[in-house]
Amino acid sequence: MSTDTPIELCASAELSEGGLAVPFDVVYDGESCRAFAIRFEGRVHAYLNRCTHVAMELDWQPNRFFDDTGQWLLCASHGAVYAPDTGEGVAGPCQGGLVKIELIEADGTVRWQPTERLQPVVF
Ligand code: FES
Repeated sequence: MSTDTPIELCASAELSEGGLAVPFDVVYDGESCRAFAIRFEGRVHAYLNRCTHVAMELDWQPNRFFDDTGQWLLCASHGAVYAPDTGEGVAGPCQGGLVKIELIEADGTVRWQPTERLQPVVF
């Protein structure tokens, strides 16, 4: 498969507004990483599951990234707050923004776009 062929991630219906994320695995700069996809204001977004404070996964409760308002992504470790649509750090001990992964939503399916730095896991 060509590295720039979008990779199927999930059905559109699996991503509800401000709801649980859909996790997936990627290789980022040669390192295996978890990633997650969410829906916010109708659009799908995905990021590496790696906080900018300490390189830890953000969710303690699996796939729960949104705060109670459904407006912000939270790191459960020390409370870094990220904007769901850009991944930009907006509060707490974050240092910069989350690594964004481009998604394509069409025909009821969400796919992610590999890049030179972001590759699919080869089993
Ligand atoms: S590891 Fe995320 S806020 Fe500290």
